[in-house]
Amino acid sequence: MNAIIEKINQALADAERRAGEAADAAAVEQLRIDYLGRNGLFPALSREMGQVPPEERRETGCAFNAGRGKIQELIENAAARLKAAGSGSGDAIDLTLPGRRWKAGHKHPITMLADECVAVFRRMGFIVAEGPEIEDIYHNFDALNTPADHPSRDPQDTFYFADGRILRTQTSPVQIRVMESHQPPVRIVAPGRVFRRDTPDATHGMNFHQIEGLYVDRGVSMADLKSVLQTFATEMYGPKVKIRLRPHFFPFTEPSVEYDFSCIMCGGKGCPVCKHSGWIEIAGAGMVDPAVFANVGYDPEKWTGFAFGMGIERLAMLRYRIPDLRLLYENDVRFLEQF
Ligand code: PHE
Repeated sequence: MNAIIEKINQALADAERRAGEAADAAAVEQLRIDYLGRNGLFPALSREMGQVPPEERRETGCAFNAGRGKIQELIENAAARLKAAGSGSGDAIDLTLPGRRWKAGHKHPITMLADECVAVFRRMGFIVAEGPEIEDIYHNFDALNTPADHPSRDPQDTFYFADGRILRTQTSPVQIRVMESHQPPVRIVAPGRVFRRDTPDATHGMNFHQIEGLYVDRGVSMADLKSVLQTFATEMYGPKVKIRLRPHFFPFTEPSVEYDFSCIMCGGKGCPVCKHSGWIEIAGAGMVDPAVFANVGYDPEKWTGFAFGMGIERLAMLRYRIPDLRLLYENDVRFLEQF
């Protein structure tokens, strides 16, 4: 065995070890450079071939060709191995990896609840009306019979724009807009966003949602109001929920009431949520004040009606047992995913 064949055998042993150990494409490339590259081992051996005595040429040539082929094979195998492992040239596709799931969102709990309320009222014959979130003072206050010195008009409580318009503080202006543009009978609900300059806490936000209701026809009475509210309560929270009307005051209804649901959490026995009273305040309501009818050109001698406005957040808190209103607005996916 001559020196060249010895070198080839040694090279094969080294290359086999290095090919097995190669951890990245760079290591494989280095292997190629060292053995097959222009300044590598095999081209150098090929130049030495001329000095081999003629009787050894055949054997040496065979060893040379076999060795070069073997190294080529080692390099290809190492490259294939790295590629399969995904760390090779970078464009490897590992078909065994699980796919990336497409995360589909869903409606916000407030929207879901507003939709549910609307569905209940639609079954009672109400249709949906809408009004602008940026309102004028006339529709938000004056037409609703709210006196000029009423505290709710205070800039401390209401967001004013420089041009005198405001962010609506209630959905009640939708009542006015509907009556201005439609003759009775009217039976609408108007869900929407409203704005007040409250300091946010567990039960107050600077903007929240209301659903307004208005029903105007001949001979509408307080009994109709009560029956609609009771039906709504039962449809939303089941047959055990009772309602209670308490005398109250609103400039645009007379008489006015606030209405409560028996506490959904404790069934009326008393718990921290209802502050141990057994009742939870849901909204304001009343019979439309004749002064409001006069403002929209309805004849108060001919038409009567009721109106109500309730807080959707409140309803959502009860439905989904959410302890703090602010959770609804932080848009933390871990929270929202639960609905
Ligand atoms: N707009 C009133 C409020 O925001 C609620 C209300 C609506 C009361 C309709 C009576 C009639 O507090």
